[in-house]
Amino acid sequence: MGHLKGELMSQIFNKANIGDLQLDNKIIMAPMCMYKSDNSGKVKDFHKYHYTARALGKIGLIIVEATAIESRGRISNNDLGLWNNEQIKGHKKLVELSHKFGSKIALQIAHAGRKSTVKETTPIAPSKIAFSKNEPFKTPKEISQKMIEKIKRKFLKTALRAKKAGYDAIELHAAHGYLLCEFLSPISNKRDDIYGGSLENRCAFVLETAQLLKKEVDLPLIVRISADEWMDNGWNINDSIYLSKELEKIGVDAIHVSAGGNQETVEQMPKLEPLYQCDYAKQIKEAVNIPVIAVGLITTPKECEEILDKKIADFIALGRELLREPNFMFNAAKQFKYDGYDNPSYLRAY
Ligand SMILES: Cc1cc2nc3c(=O)[nH]c(=O)nc-3n(C[C@H](O)[C@H](O)[C@H](O)COP(=O)(O)O)c2cc1C
Repeated sequence: MGHLKGELMSQIFNKANIGDLQLDNKIIMAPMCMYKSDNSGKVKDFHKYHYTARALGKIGLIIVEATAIESRGRISNNDLGLWNNEQIKGHKKLVELSHKFGSKIALQIAHAGRKSTVKETTPIAPSKIAFSKNEPFKTPKEISQKMIEKIKRKFLKTALRAKKAGYDAIELHAAHGYLLCEFLSPISNKRDDIYGGSLENRCAFVLETAQLLKKEVDLPLIVRISADEWMDNGWNINDSIYLSKELEKIGVDAIHVSAGGNQETVEQMPKLEPLYQCDYAKQIKEAVNIPVIAVGLITTPKECEEILDKKIADFIALGRELLREPNFMFNAAKQFKYDGYDNPSYLRAY
């Protein structure tokens, strides 16, 4: 157990829980598709080295990239998948390697909906509205209620396979304009059945899926949402607060607050500056009593510290910064004079 030398204080090295899962620190690797698989959807050597490097870097929780629950639900033909039992083995290896070096590891389970660009299949969506009229996007077919039931079961089966592989937690991908997110938005969801129309109806697919996972899979569940789609009459932060409260009620363990991704062009483009999505996380944190994860253009230990200090969020997810700098935690330890991460082999580098 390390401690801080001198008067510098830092909270990022504190242990904290998501559900009953204890993380060694407050830094999370955001899920990032690497498009390094092939049509099999299986884990490749690249993924083993890539994720294990971040475990060597002492990241508290690694969230493995969007992993498809069915082959039609991939973003591309090179996505990871966990839609069959043959795919479990590779994920098991990812988990073993991360655990060996001390990081917890979660799997983001996903369906790309109308944003799927898989060559062989036609995408599905709440309504027959394409994400873009340009290639490689295709016009999706509207899914039936019977198919919604099937997709929920596929989320469940994938989560159960993830549990078999040894993952510590599941993240349900309901952000960035993929299938579940498409149902939330009144712009991409024009249904007139029980899954469309009112805010309650548009949230039903996400809530029913999360509820099924909480009931049947004994793992902490994080739900990732886009807090705002940046459109005049679109999904917004107030809707996200409603959804987050409902997710909390059914036992979801954390909300991961991203934004955007449901529209090819937006009417209210935010300024892309450091911490630009943090205010959404803050507003959601004020409304719920479960941990909130902030993400988006957060790149320095000081910014992470500020987010925790100002109670904007409980955890910080880093995306691109961890692609650049897998040893972010060692730099942070040096900056804050924390002596918990003194891997003797790396000591001379700091
Ligand atoms: C290469 C790349 C791939 C991504 N893939 C995913 C993904 O699989 N699932 C997801 O929810 N977000 C994905 N994202 C979004 C990131 O998780 C993160 O929210 C975003 O990059 C903003 O954080 P950052 O500024 O720290 O990079 C991806 C981003 C990048 C750069």
